[in-house]
Amino acid sequence: MDKLPVIGNAPPPAPVSELDMTPDELEAGIVRLKAERNAVILAHYYQESEIQDLADFVGDSLQLSQAAAKTQADVIVFCGVHFMAETAKILNPTKIVVIPDLEAGCSLADGCPAPLFERWLKQYPDHKVVSYINCSAEVKALSDVICTSSNAVKIVKALGDHKIVFAPDRHLGAFVAKQANRPDLVTWQGTCIVHETFSEKRLLGLLAQHPDAEVIAHPECHEGILRHAHHIASTSGLIDYAKKSPKQTFIVATEAGILHKMQQAAPGKTLIPAPPDDESCACNMCPHMRRNTLEKLYLCLRDLKPQVDVPEHVRVKALKPIERMLEMSV
Ligand code: 13P
Ligand code: SF4
Repeated sequence: MDKLPVIGNAPPPAPVSELDMTPDELEAGIVRLKAERNAVILAHYYQESEIQDLADFVGDSLQLSQAAAKTQADVIVFCGVHFMAETAKILNPTKIVVIPDLEAGCSLADGCPAPLFERWLKQYPDHKVVSYINCSAEVKALSDVICTSSNAVKIVKALGDHKIVFAPDRHLGAFVAKQANRPDLVTWQGTCIVHETFSEKRLLGLLAQHPDAEVIAHPECHEGILRHAHHIASTSGLIDYAKKSPKQTFIVATEAGILHKMQQAAPGKTLIPAPPDDESCACNMCPHMRRNTLEKLYLCLRDLKPQVDVPEHVRVKALKPIERMLEMSV
């Protein structure tokens, strides 16, 4: 497919690598190494389209965790961000889990350091801790159940009247509080740098130009965007909606990588990326997700590094709330 539509400047080019290979050679090398290593490539919708096209499975955070939980491969190559690869490792301690770029982090995970979180939780000793999967293994280990954007409402509802703290995304927390009718939900005040950046004013301008368009938004967006959304869902939920809706035009308020699979699922429909505040930046692309490149994917398969590891005492504690989520999501 053509390059993804982006707003403003493209992200900086990947650093010059030691490899002197054409994209075709890289792709062929990745396919060959994948077979030699008995590896599976799992990719999130926010990855570059070339990476999505080479992956064995592309999905949202929940689907990727489910795929990681049942893979028979010896090596999991996680094309996403660190907390996703970490979750795969927690589920598969005996497998090798590699990520093309170990520095691919997440503003939500980074904004919720475990020591601070542990101290904060002391204020709520009688609360259940529901943590969004976008957090570190250490934060997961302090949680009762993990959720993703596709099951957060269901999981909070399933906890009945129990008092709940929700971390680390305050916008998802506010959305869940509303949907589950839990105004008492206590939320950690983290945000996603990508979804925080969409502009309500510019969105209204776009809607004025495309009055028949529907706004579809990820629940990590702030209320200024969500209040105009016709549909709010996880990445896979948004793709599904664009495919099934009789509407022709959608303004898509989430990371622009989603447009690749969304366009394949809804051919002929018009997909317009929601605009960020700053016209001159490519802020609708996650700088962490975009650290992964085809070259780095090739290298991590060739060298089996960088590997993602989780200390065993953290892993066993983090596993329980992840397993609880998987059980509650069938
Ligand atoms: P989902 O994949 O659950 O839609 O969440 C997107 C996300 O935040 C990835 O960073
Ligand atoms: Fe984290 Fe936001 Fe990037 Fe997702 S898009 S990985 S939530 S920074």
